[in-house]
Amino acid sequence: MGFGTVGRSVAKILCERTDGLLRLTHICNRNVERKKQPWVPSDVLWTENFQAVLDSEVEIVVELIGGLHPAEDLVRGALNAGKAVVTANKQLIARHGPDLLQLASSNGCQLEFGASVAGGVPVLPALRTGLSGDRLHGIAGILNGTCNYILSRLESDRIPFSEALEEAQARGYAEADASEDLDGGDARAKLSILALAGLHVRVSPADVRARTIRAIDVVDFDYAAELGCTIRQISRADLNDTTLFAEVGPSLVPASSPFGRVQRNLNLVLTSGEFGGDVAFLGAGAGGYPTAVAVISDLMFVAESLSLGPRPHRPLNLASPNVSCDFETPWYLRFWVKDQPGIIASLAAILSAHQLNIDAVLQKPGFDKNALPFVITLESCRDSQLHPALEQMSAQSFALRPCLCLPILR
Ligand SMILES: NC(=O)c1ccc[n+]([C@@H]2O[C@H](COP(=O)([O-])OP(=O)(O)OC[C@H]3O[C@@H](n4cnc5c(N)ncnc54)[C@H](OP(=O)(O)O)[C@@H]3O)[C@@H](O)[C@H]2O)c1
Repeated sequence: MGFGTVGRSVAKILCERTDGLLRLTHICNRNVERKKQPWVPSDVLWTENFQAVLDSEVEIVVELIGGLHPAEDLVRGALNAGKAVVTANKQLIARHGPDLLQLASSNGCQLEFGASVAGGVPVLPALRTGLSGDRLHGIAGILNGTCNYILSRLESDRIPFSEALEEAQARGYAEADASEDLDGGDARAKLSILALAGLHVRVSPADVRARTIRAIDVVDFDYAAELGCTIRQISRADLNDTTLFAEVGPSLVPASSPFGRVQRNLNLVLTSGEFGGDVAFLGAGAGGYPTAVAVISDLMFVAESLSLGPRPHRPLNLASPNVSCDFETPWYLRFWVKDQPGIIASLAAILSAHQLNIDAVLQKPGFDKNALPFVITLESCRDSQLHPALEQMSAQSFALRPCLCLPILR
């Protein structure tokens, strides 16, 4: 279902396979006539009628339409008809994953979604098998290739944000409306799925705070470099008893760390386990063929499971923790001010009144005194402790823009 970028690549790989485990039987798409391809064998049925697919003897339905409508109804219909489902649909799984897994289980079917996070990087299958013997407590990742492309271009070539965004759009990495990418909506949906699969928690994407990367300026990379760091959009989730600390947003990371070294539109996921420690997964987070590889791998897993006979009903055991963004970290605060005497003293007084400790003050020479960027770093404190001070500092008459506040992840 869905013969677009990923669907076409999945069909192509299936048509070239010769091992007999998987056979493509139907291609279902709206206005399907214009989709037909000469390389698809003549016994494959092209159709717009999804019900006909369900009424046939197909064993696995692959949903590659995307979005919630009509994908959700189609996936529910397939599971209710006793078909296994493989999907790459992050919106669907992030919003309805637990319910759909429950539905699959009660129908004795499988639902696999390995391509829904990080495209061709096999992190979800690893959570299902290779890491299932551990008790994971943390997952962090660079999950949005568009943001990473833009931030790593700012870092390496000091080009303006708008130019890096246009370049990402021209290369097909970003949509014309890139809000979901830039403002963190895409990454937090993926983080919810990783938390579901790896931490066994039910978390709605809407409950995960997302901070935009739009406020990042080239000068932030200069200041970050002085601190031995660079800037990346990091999605992180830490499970701590009954609280899931989770958020998505631009963060300072050491330039020499795995996150600091991820360039262009690659994805990186790090898992932290109680017994096995940290494990890293790096690769292409999107693209027709890398994503299709993840879909085909899910298909092979399902086909092999089907050959073992009916699946026993296994109730889902998911926790529903409180979701908080109140991380305790050191912080990077960047101010953009009209220079005048006493600015540092005013800011220091506000910070001191909130019992926040300054770690360093950085000011690069050579800027116009009418629009001067400088940075204060803070010692570790909770987000909630810092927030009221930020509002007060941003309201000062010398502040030309709201203070940019980024966690420093060590
Ligand atoms: N592209 C990637 O790199 C990537 C990476 C990871 C995950 N994914 C996920 O993979 C899924 C597919 O993505 P994609 O990039 O392949 O999308 P796409 O290129 O837009 O393809 C979607 C296909 O579904 C068809 N379709 C849309 N609405 C339909 C409807 N109501 N009934 C029947 N067919 C319908 C579209 O037909 P029309 O041609 O008529 O529009 C199109 O052929 C999404 O869930 C996406 O999030 C994609």
